[in-house]
Amino acid sequence: MRIIVVDNYEEMSKRAALMVASQVTLKPDSVLGLATGDTPSGMYKELIKLYNKKEVDFKEVRTFNLDEYYGLNPENSQSYYKYMMNNLFNSINISTKNINMPDGMAKDVDDFCSLYEKKIKTLGGIDMQVLGIGGNGHIGFNEPNINFEAQTHLVNLDEQTIEANSRFFKSIEYVPVKAISMGIKTIMNSKKIILLANGLNKAEAIEKAVKGKINPSIPASILQLHNDVTIIIDKEAASLL
Ligand code: F6R
Repeated sequence: MRIIVVDNYEEMSKRAALMVASQVTLKPDSVLGLATGDTPSGMYKELIKLYNKKEVDFKEVRTFNLDEYYGLNPENSQSYYKYMMNNLFNSINISTKNINMPDGMAKDVDDFCSLYEKKIKTLGGIDMQVLGIGGNGHIGFNEPNINFEAQTHLVNLDEQTIEANSRFFKSIEYVPVKAISMGIKTIMNSKKIILLANGLNKAEAIEKAVKGKINPSIPASILQLHNDVTIIIDKEAASLL
């Protein structure tokens, strides 16, 4: 694990955007794994700036998102589809046919999940996966005590996650209780991983993920076994290391 501690959120976002942009420059048809939430939104802003300066071109890039709430229509303002369109895809030259998101409205979820996995494999696997981390140590929506062998599947959201994410909804009752998420195995099969975290509320999860025992109770701890993980965190998230 390579750990880069930076001063603040802005620095974290810039460093991460440069890593993604370098990946795309070296391999224009890179397969990127993408996350949503507050953590990567600054990185997406920086990527848009680099794109506007013509320093990166997304024409051939293919993307797979980590997760999507189950039961939310893509047009719902809180869907991760909307998040990705608003935070990145609408502002760069990615081709719509190259965007892959879990379908929160899938009728046959198992079928959808196995097709998602198959598509990732057919395209040669994920070259670079961007991750955030939950306060409970989750990555994607792989909540504590997840099976490390799981691939893309339907998950039950942890109470802590539902509460944390209720900040985006009218009230907690509106937060979906299930999601479709890439599994730990899907994430671990990525060639490179960047994990971002900022703020004191992530410090304990980062400490356990980096220094703790590899244990399904902290899903992110499995990353200790991956051979190409870069963790970019601000001073606050690094405060317990
Ligand atoms: C989102 C995702 C989640 C988030 C995590 C942190 O696609 O996979 O694991 O990265 O819940 O969320 P924020 O960044 O909002 O603190």
